[in-house]
Amino acid sequence: MPWIHAINESAAAEFAEDVLNPMHPDKFRTLGVRLRLQSGQRVLDVGAGRCGPARILAREFGCHITAVEPHDVFLNDARERVAAAGLGDRFEFVQSTGADFVIEPESYDAAMCIGASWAWGGL
Ligand SMILES: C[S@@+](CC[C@H](N)C(=O)[O-])C[C@H]1O[C@@H](n2cnc3c(N)ncnc32)[C@H](O)[C@@H]1O
Repeated sequence: MPWIHAINESAAAEFAEDVLNPMHPDKFRTLGVRLRLQSGQRVLDVGAGRCGPARILAREFGCHITAVEPHDVFLNDARERVAAAGLGDRFEFVQSTGADFVIEPESYDAAMCIGASWAWGGL
């Protein structure tokens, strides 16, 4: 069965920087500034998609990302794009739903779940 998110996102090919949401990449830059993200800080991204938002934070603020994403096609795309951007040492990839991923809150300085609010089985 097709992955519903892949169908949705195929209509979103015009979105910039692999952000799989109708959000301008500048919003993630603003988010990083407002959070005062620092180099080396750790960000958890649940429902990471192709890691568009996460790559912006890693590249512009130097943070480390744990990217949790259940769909293997998106996760493989993310791995390729992260490697191509030379950011591989800042990423850990986990193939999992949000609900199945055990979060250790002390392990992260910030967490985000953009456009995947059902990741824990409901809003
Ligand atoms: C709208 S996309 C957003 C992707 C990314 N956060 C972004 O903004 O570019 C939603 C993502 O949630 C993922 N997803 C679907 N079900 C999920 C679940 N149960 N737990 C975590 N992620 C899920 C989809 O595969 C897709 O990558």
